[in-house]
Amino acid sequence: MSIHRILVTGAGGFLGHHLVRALKRRGAWVRGVDLKDPEFEPSDADEFVRTDLREPKSCVAATEGVDDVYNLAADMGGIGFITRYFASVARNNSLINLNMLEASHQNGVRRFLFTSSACVYSKHMQEQPRVDGLKEEDAHPAAPEKGYGWEKLYAEQLCEYYHDDYGLDTRVVRLHNAYGPLGTFEGGREKAPAAACRKVAMAAPDDMIEIWGDGLQTRSFLYVDDCVEGLQRLMETPFVVPVNLGSEESLTIAELFELVAQIAGKRIKVTFDTTKPQGVRGRNSDNRRLAGILGWTPSTPLAVGLAATYRWIHAELAARERHGREEQIVAGNVPVGALG
Ligand code: NAD
Ligand code: GDD
Repeated sequence: MSIHRILVTGAGGFLGHHLVRALKRRGAWVRGVDLKDPEFEPSDADEFVRTDLREPKSCVAATEGVDDVYNLAADMGGIGFITRYFASVARNNSLINLNMLEASHQNGVRRFLFTSSACVYSKHMQEQPRVDGLKEEDAHPAAPEKGYGWEKLYAEQLCEYYHDDYGLDTRVVRLHNAYGPLGTFEGGREKAPAAACRKVAMAAPDDMIEIWGDGLQTRSFLYVDDCVEGLQRLMETPFVVPVNLGSEESLTIAELFELVAQIAGKRIKVTFDTTKPQGVRGRNSDNRRLAGILGWTPSTPLAVGLAATYRWIHAELAARERHGREEQIVAGNVPVGALG
């Protein structure tokens, strides 16, 4: 039996890195491609290629000799990032997705999975904190998130056209806010769970922690292990229609910060900044289609996934602080006794 050859784009990013590791554990041969190497640890990919997938020739080279493509590469981030950069996000991601689909078609790729987003859903269905879970058919008539949401919806359509016209076997998975260890937690692209972990980890006893918005907006959050498991399971099904992959465990953002504080064993004081980006008022996933297709849905409780995420972010920050202090000592700026 020949070994399954798989391409993961965005393999230097959060989900791509975890996905490569999971695919390797299952015995596949994996090529990872990205603009950058993974930030926190080396990739498990058999071959890791640094390349820019906005270029058609890079996509042709990347898809050569592979059976399946997981197309995760994207210029993306949390709500602070995607409401700041509309043109570059829309342009970069449209180019990646167009070129990756065309190259996959040219190279006779068997299956092509596209990671879409809950941002494709109509804003009008997400105007209250307590909303019903979003069903796949709720994406049309379209009123998605400006920039990133439109670009994802357009790429979903492209997948359908490549399937219908050329027989490319496509999968479209709508991810709902994924989090976990090795995810970005600073720098402007971080999402709420990682931001909450960072802010709580760094807070001294009397510090005020800033929450964007009034804290009453709601979300559900998908743990990375469930995300990676769901992507692989969906790839193996025959379903080309879009499918939600999210958690149905909804809570307010203020509750999210409180939960992180409990995990950290800290009492926190918070302030609310309603001038900061907030996105939709309420969002949750409806997993009925996913359950019907797979007989499986994400199951990691938020408290469990957040505890693992908090521990990892806390350890990263602590290691960095130790490293900074050691550098200061080497430079002769701090007496040795000051190193805690
Ligand atoms: P990420 O930002 O950690 O990873 C994306 C990777 O794509 C990055 O490493 C980036 O360098 C790479 N990339 C960007 N432009 C590129 C280019 N021109 N050429 C090659 N590589 C390029 O994001 P993630 O959280 O791992 O998300 C993976 C996918 O899932 C993305 O398509 C994203 O839109 C989608 N998604 C993620 C979430 C989430 O909550 N994480 C939610 C919805 C959808
Ligand atoms: N990022 C962030 N940082 N958000 C915060 C913070 C903070 O310090 N404090 C409160 N929030 C609030 C935001 O105002 C928003 O209302 C909510 O937490 C969730 O923010 P994000 O996690 O950044 O994004 P999102 O859920 O609105 O959208 C994200 O999820 C989509 C999929 O569900 C984005 O990451 C999209 O890129 C993604 O596709």
